[in-house]
Parts: sequence; structure tokens; C-alpha cells
Amino acid sequence: MSKISAFLVLLSSGLSLASKCPPSFSIPKSDAVDHVNPLIGNGGDTPNGSGGMIPSTAPPFAMTRWVAQTHQNYVSVTPYNHTASTIHGFQGTHQPAIWMGESGQVVVVPGTGSVKSKFEDRGLRFSNDTQITSPSYYRVELDTGDGGRILAEQSATSRRPRDPPPLPISLPTSHIRSAASPSTPARREITGSNSERQDWIITPTSIAQNARNFKGYFCARFDAPFAKFGVIQNGSEIPGTQTRTGSLLSAYARFPAGTRKVNVRVGVSFISVDQARKNLDAEIANGVALEQTARRTRAAWAEKLDRIQLEGASEADKEVFYTAFFHTLQYPYEQDEGGRYYSGYDNRVHQGKSYTGYSIWDTFRGETNPFHDYEYEDVEISRHSARPAHAKACVAKAYCVAHFV
Ligand SMILES: *[C@@H]1O[C@H](CO)[C@@H](O)[C@H](O)[C@H]1NC(C)=O
Ligand SMILES: *[C@@H]1O[C@H](CO)[C@@H](O)[C@H](O)[C@H]1NC(C)=O
Ligand SMILES: *[C@@H]1O[C@H](CO)[C@@H](O)[C@H](O)[C@H]1NC(C)=O
Ligand SMILES: *[C@@H]1O[C@H](CO)[C@@H](O)[C@H](O)[C@H]1NC(C)=O
Repeated sequence: MSKISAFLVLLSSGLSLASKCPPSFSIPKSDAVDHVNPLIGNGGDTPNGSGGMIPSTAPPFAMTRWVAQTHQNYVSVTPYNHTASTIHGFQGTHQPAIWMGESGQVVVVPGTGSVKSKFEDRGLRFSNDTQITSPSYYRVELDTGDGGRILAEQSATSRRPRDPPPLPISLPTSHIRSAASPSTPARREITGSNSERQDWIITPTSIAQNARNFKGYFCARFDAPFAKFGVIQNGSEIPGTQTRTGSLLSAYARFPAGTRKVNVRVGVSFISVDQARKNLDAEIANGVALEQTARRTRAAWAEKLDRIQLEGASEADKEVFYTAFFHTLQYPYEQDEGGRYYSGYDNRVHQGKSYTGYSIWDTFRGETNPFHDYEYEDVEISRHSARPAHAKACVAKAYCVAHFV
């Protein structure tokens, strides 16, 4: 507990956040990464008064980011709200900031006792002082409501997290609507897909059909054998069922009594379940420890953020600067997997690299185009021709704002 109270003291005194992650999650050393506070930007009195950022875990420009879910996200509603006192699962989101809602998401829900699939039933209380947020590592202690506690720790690579809730019984769910959830107990896997796309409401009807096969696919693999498994459809449990197609579906696994710790790795894909499984094996192979994944993700942030060193800045200045810098490197997100990507513009899988989630509108939240254009050649791929003019326009805009304010 001493580390946790040290974290609180540091937060309330406004000192460095450097020691907030446990030592094994603070490697490599990076003063810049230590000053990122992912909770900044989540506040606000109204949904539209909020910075719209969420404390998610993933490398820069990640296809999927993982976040503790306190709310059902929708258009202009983020999945995490810092005022909440219950966590309803851990969501693989494709939206690092408030946006036109979610698409193809997957949620992993730990729990004990009876399996609860409905969002409003499955919230577990947590207290703020057990929560650690950072770009590469998240942890929280959840109160199971029956005298038990679950410690959930999580880290992520671009297309999959590693989320080991050490608990006797766990419930992974796909997120509802037209999802198929076949589970394969022998492989300790639950796989499925989710075709939900909340920005459907603004897609012009003339092109709405283009993305008709859009789906977020997932493959969740556990390191403990399943004692029981089944699916839940619209709140009704169907034990022992391995395959089901329809809407409002979740799948669950229960682990043998006495299981103290379960590691789950979730691979995601926009192409297929098979590709999700390949992504999982490629990025977090069997046996890779949570610490290794977190270290890789932290190193990716350090490589970007340490490019700018501040002289004469106070601890508070550093926190503001590096958090803002961190926010500029969330969008766009990479879309290609195994050298291919699904495009919702023509409903096909193409060869090559691709990024998506560009927005001038939301530039101030999760993206700053001039930074990308001048510093990060790795993201320029899908916009060669527009790039120079676009960067000049942004610089000109910044100049005008500075000039007239
Ligand atoms: C977060 O929750 C508070 C309290 O319910 C609410 O006032 C606020 O609007 C919410 N913020 C966002 C961004 O939804
Ligand atoms: C912001 O949200 C509040 C409450 O939902 C609403 O009354 C207000 O009109 C909104 N403002 C803007 C500029 O959209
Ligand atoms: C938890 O701590 C954060 C950061 O200090 C704060 O913004 C938030 O309001 C707190 N939440 C609750 C429920 O007290
Ligand atoms: C789910 O169940 C509720 C009642 O519990 C019912 O009102 C609703 O229509 C059902 N939804 C679907 C899609 O079957």
C-alpha cells in the first residue's frame, strides 16, 4: 500500500508523477513519459465542455486503445468519466478521444459470482486511490460486492492488450448487436465480431452500403482452463453453448475454483477472427509477460516524447506539456494488419499500409497535424499529396490565432 499512498501524496502536492508506476512498469526511464497524466482532458461539467480525452493504454497511433469503461460510449460520450465510482469492464476502443461514437469495439469484463452481461448490472466499485493510469500501464482494484477484490492490470500493443485480472471467475463479453460469439474452450479462446458502428447516423445514405461488411473481430485467449462456458443473449444465459449468431450477445468463461490469477490477451482485427488471432500471436505471443508488453509500449512513447527536452520547466509545466504532446500522437490510428487493411469506403481488403481517424475538426484533442508532418514520417503514408498544403494551412492557422489573440 505504501506505493499507492505515495502516489496520492504526489498528486495532491502537484509534484512529479514519476514514481506512480511500479518499478517494473517504469522501464525504460523517461522523464517525458513520467510526466504524462492521462486523466487530463477527461474533466468538464457537460459532455461538450469536456476535453473529451480518456486515460487509455496503447502505443502512439494505435489501432486499438484499452480503457476502463465507466459509461456506455456513444456519439459525444466517452467510455470513461473520471467522476464515476464503478467500472463495467475494459474496452478495446478505436477512439482515443470523444468522436462520432464507437465502432467494432470489444469489452472484457472480470467478475465473480453470477455472470452479469448487462452494462448496468455489471459495474464494480473502485476507489480512486487504487487506480494507476499511464500511457503504457493501467491498474485498479475492483470490489466484487461479495467480499472479494479483483486486481486488474492492463497494457496494450497497437492491436491487442494484455489484461490479467487475477480472479476466480471472469466474464469476457463481446459488445452486443449482431455479434457472433463462438467460443473454443479447448483452445481457451473466445472469438467473435461486432458490427456496431455508431457513426452510421451521419453516413450519407448514398455510400452507407459501402461499409456493409464492417466488423470489429476479436480473439481473446486465456491462460487458465475453462471450468464452464456459454453465451448470454439479451440477458439470458445459455450454458455450454459454443456458437451463436445474433444480436445482444456476450460469451463467458468460468475458471476452476481456487484460480487466483488469469491472464487474458485479446487480439483484434477489422479483417477476420483469423487475422485477430494472427495479430495476437505476432504482437503478444503465448508466454509474453505483462511487464514486457508494457515496456515495449512505454519505449514507443519514450522514443517520441523524449525528442523534446524542456529546460527550466517546473514539474507542473512538464505535466501540461508532455500530456498535450502525448495527446497529439493518438490520431490518426493505424489500420493495417499483416500488410493488409479493410476499407469501409469500398468494403474491400487492400494490400498496404493505412491510417484512419484524421480530423481537422478535432485537431486540438488527439492530433496536431503540423507535428505529424514535420516530426513523424511514419504516419505520412496515406496522405502524400495533401500533406504539404495541409501542414501549411495548419501553421498559418496557428500563426493567425497567435497574431490576433
Ligand atoms: C461526467 O460525469 C459528470 C457527473 O455525472 C457529468 O456532469 C459530466 O457531464 C460527465 N462528463 C462527460 C464528458 O460526459
Ligand atoms: C453543451 O451541452 C449542454 C448540455 O447538454 C447543452 O445545453 C448546450 O447547448 C451544449 N452547448 C453546445 C455549444 O453544444
Ligand atoms: C478521482 O481522481 C481524479 C484525479 O484526481 C479526479 O479528477 C476525480 O474526480 C476523482 N474521482 C472521484 C470519483 O473522486
Ligand atoms: C431484450 O429483452 C427485453 C426484455 O428484457 C426486450 O424488451 C427487448 O425487446 C429484447 N431485445 C431484443 C433485441 O430482443
